[in-house]
Amino acid sequence: MVGIGPGTPEYLTQKAIKAIKGSDIVAGYDLCLNVVRDLTQDKTIIEMTWSNRNERLDYITREVISGKNCSILRSGDPNFSGSSGIEDIYDRFPDAEIIPGISSVQIAAAKSKLAWDKIVLLTFHVTEDLEKKKQSLLDSVRGGHIVLLLSESRFMPKDVAKFLLSGGIDDRMPITVYENLTLENEGVFHGNLKELAGKNFTYLSVVIIGK
Ligand SMILES: C[S@@+](CC[C@H](N)C(=O)[O-])C[C@H]1O[C@@H](n2cnc3c(N)ncnc32)[C@H](O)[C@@H]1O
Repeated sequence: MVGIGPGTPEYLTQKAIKAIKGSDIVAGYDLCLNVVRDLTQDKTIIEMTWSNRNERLDYITREVISGKNCSILRSGDPNFSGSSGIEDIYDRFPDAEIIPGISSVQIAAAKSKLAWDKIVLLTFHVTEDLEKKKQSLLDSVRGGHIVLLLSESRFMPKDVAKFLLSGGIDDRMPITVYENLTLENEGVFHGNLKELAGKNFTYLSVVIIGK
C-alpha cells in the first residue's frame, strides 16, 4: 500500500515512486491515480470507487496470488484517516509493505506553523458513531485546545461550525480552512466560527479551530 501524498507529484517520496515503477498493477481512487499518471503508462490500472472496491480487491487478490506486483494507492499517509478503507486491505494482504506518505495534515500544520504536540488531531472519516467523535471535538475546543480536523461529507466544515455554535462556543473563535492543498485550485479561508457556518468547501478540506 503506497501513500502518495496530498495531491501534487512533488510530495511523492522516492520510495513510493520506486514501488509504483516496480508494480504490474496500480490501483486506487481517481484522485490518487491522477497523481501518479506519469509513472503508470505501462501498468494495468484499476480504478476503484467506494462501491466497486470489494470486487476490485477480489481481482487484485487473484492477480497477487498469481505472482503480480500491485501498488494500492492511498492519499496522504495510508495510516491516517480512512481506517474503514485500509483495515480490510490489511486483512487481505497481511504481508504487504506499507509505504508512508506525506499527509494533508502535515501540509496544513506546516502552513499554520503548528507543532504536533500543541494540537488535537481529529478525523471524521470513521465508521464509528459520529456523535461520540463530535463530543470529543466539543470537549477539546471547550478545553482550549487547538484542533486540526478532517471533515467529511456527513460533517462538512459548515456543519462543524453549526455544531460548535450550538454547543456554546464563542462565534469569534478563529478558524482556518485549507482546501485542495498542493493542488492547482488550492485555497485558504481565515475567519471565525460565525463566518464558517455560512461557507461551503470541497471534500478536500482541513479545518483548524482556535488559531
Ligand atoms: C479519507 S481521508 C484521507 C486522509 C489522508 N490519508 C491523509 O493523510 O491526508 C480524506 C480527507 O483528507 C483530507 N485531504 C486529503 N487530501 C487533501 C488535500 N489535498 N487538501 C485538503 N484536504 C485533504 C480531507 O479532509 C479529506 O476529506
